[in-house]
Amino acid sequence: MNEPATSFARRLLAWWDVNGRKHFPWQRERTPYRVWIAEIMLQQTQVSTVEPYFERFVARFPDVRTLAGADLDEVLHLWSGLGYYARGRNLHRAAGIVMREHGGVFPDTVEAVQALPGIGRSTAAAIVAQGYGRRAAILDANVKRVLARRHSVGGSVASTATLDALWRLADAHTPAERVADYTQAIMDLGATVCVRRRPRCQQCPVHADCQARAARSPERYPERAPRRTRRVERSRFFVVVDPQGACLVEQRPPRGIWGGLWSPPQRGAGEPVDAFLEAAGIAPDLVGQVRAADVFRHGFTHFDLDVEPVYVRLTSRPAQVHETTARWIHPRDHRLGLSKVAARLVADSGDPTG
Ligand code: ADE
Repeated sequence: MNEPATSFARRLLAWWDVNGRKHFPWQRERTPYRVWIAEIMLQQTQVSTVEPYFERFVARFPDVRTLAGADLDEVLHLWSGLGYYARGRNLHRAAGIVMREHGGVFPDTVEAVQALPGIGRSTAAAIVAQGYGRRAAILDANVKRVLARRHSVGGSVASTATLDALWRLADAHTPAERVADYTQAIMDLGATVCVRRRPRCQQCPVHADCQARAARSPERYPERAPRRTRRVERSRFFVVVDPQGACLVEQRPPRGIWGGLWSPPQRGAGEPVDAFLEAAGIAPDLVGQVRAADVFRHGFTHFDLDVEPVYVRLTSRPAQVHETTARWIHPRDHRLGLSKVAARLVADSGDPTG
């Protein structure tokens, strides 16, 4: 390194004091619990989406004990629409572990935090740095970009050698003082100045030392991992609605995509209505209108799902459905966790033209 680590940190902090983001709800009343919830929500979701979810979540579950004692269904209900529901399940599990193994006090070391389900090294460090003000280096996607450019670190960020080099730099730059602010500052720099395309180098407090800028090629860094082609899957969803407007949903298995969430029955693409009704034990003479709505695409991280909605209006509700987890819910009045796709299908069940 060709400068003392403190000078990078010092300039970054001076920049943050003037330009940084200081009014997120988790920066008010900054407790380890609130920082934890925020950092988990922020892992795969942008700040503007997270803010209202965060406020609702901590209003309902103000501390670890309340969260640990809550029903998973209620946790997932408050998570509905945020995506990546494993995060919600892991939060709930982790809260139980904090109660049982840490006496209800959120742990204050990177190692102990990282041992909780769903928390990687960088998130653990962000929680410890911001929640406790303890020195810990983070390396999220924004920080990787800042450091890869500042030190022109080549090689795919998916490779161990590159990651090791970036972790060493991250650690070397992290100051002992004001570590919570520094952590926010380097994330803010990556989010607002050292952005992926067309970075605003003129506004950057460390541009004079930036090696990628000196080589006039900031956008070359970080090198991206080779792209794999996305696969597309397709499913048919049967949105069964009774005469009162209640909608049939079933619970997904606990693991995997949408694990533990509720959804209108999801079946194979093109599954005939008759076959679905027979398997579900819904007599054909209860069926009023059946209509297929337009297919829409839902994107996951690694694949797309084409959704074929089929709306089935019943003339009366069957006494029983052959599906152990089946429930009837009212679209605007339920307390279950629904995936985004399920919420859209259920919301459209009153007006399946959309
Ligand atoms: N993304 C992850 N953590 C964040 C934070 N503390 N502030 C803004 N964006 C973030």
